[in-house]
Amino acid sequence: MLILGLETSCDETAAAVVADGAVIRSNIIASQAALHRRFGGVVPELASRKHVERLLPVLDDALRESGVGLEQIDAVAVTRGPGLVGALTVGVAAAKALAVARGLPLIAVNHLEGHIYAGFLAAPDLTFPLLALIVSGAHADLVRMRGHGRYEVLGRSRDDAAGEAFDKVARAMGLGYPGGPALDRLAEQGDPTAVLLPLPMADESLEFSFSGVKTAALRILRAGQGDARLQADLSAALRRVVVEVLVRKTLRAAHTLEADTIVVAGGVAANSLLRRQMALRCEEEGLRLVIPPPILCTDNAAMIAAAGYHRLILGERSPLTIGAESDLPLQ
Ligand code: KG4
Ligand code: ZN
Repeated sequence: MLILGLETSCDETAAAVVADGAVIRSNIIASQAALHRRFGGVVPELASRKHVERLLPVLDDALRESGVGLEQIDAVAVTRGPGLVGALTVGVAAAKALAVARGLPLIAVNHLEGHIYAGFLAAPDLTFPLLALIVSGAHADLVRMRGHGRYEVLGRSRDDAAGEAFDKVARAMGLGYPGGPALDRLAEQGDPTAVLLPLPMADESLEFSFSGVKTAALRILRAGQGDARLQADLSAALRRVVVEVLVRKTLRAAHTLEADTIVVAGGVAANSLLRRQMALRCEEEGLRLVIPPPILCTDNAAMIAAAGYHRLILGERSPLTIGAESDLPLQ
């Protein structure tokens, strides 16, 4: 079964064709990062306009590269939320138009479930129950999944997302937008013990909070007045405490819930220390770990097509009356 996926929730215009929720036939991503960089963050109105401009060419590329014609597509899956409403609307409108024009089922997908389903693209033999850590520019959520489409949110960030904390500190260092990947690289050259940062919300709960450690890092940065050594050390220290708390709480949840499979997804799952530490600790504890390759961690439409496939198999169809939702709980 061939699913066409569309994703326009933030600043990536993406289209993909995925077979049976597992085999990527094409995965086209047009990033708008260069457009938003000079503003230091995503400008919603510019993002929407760019999606309008790029979605059809990206869709054409996805079909061409897959070698599949529109007439062979079995369903259209699209991100409905959460995200920027104007940006989401572009993808939702396009998906509805395709569904009507070709008489195809329309499947609305939650962006966060999309991130989890990148795990199924990386490891189609994934089994339930599983525990997913979704860490992105907007989220830090721990989710238990007992079956396809069955989500239970165990904890989330009370304030800043993990990626947001990285991006804001990176921006103050002049590392550009989005700064997470640049901070990750700079951290490789720093000494994580040279700067003291508190572990963010290292309590027994499964909730996260990254705003305090972000503010502490910004304060140290300001006091250091652009010292290059300090920037590298601070990047290393921030990355270390954020990763430590993410790993610690994910493993604690796995123990408590007796889940033996962990999926780490979302843009921050591309972080090199998070990947290393998760791998190390899961191996020590005998847990199965799936972290998709970085290109499937950041926003893409293949993950949306994969999630859409499983909803389709469950018999779900979305009505043409659906709209974009900026806040959309996982359910
Ligand atoms: O999932 P994503 O592409 O978009 C959202 O749904 O938010 O995640 C983007 C986030 C940004 O905050 C970006 O800085 C972060 O993922 N990110 C990273 C890395 N690569 C992307 N953060 C830390 N280290 C990385 N290597
Ligand atoms: Zn995302």
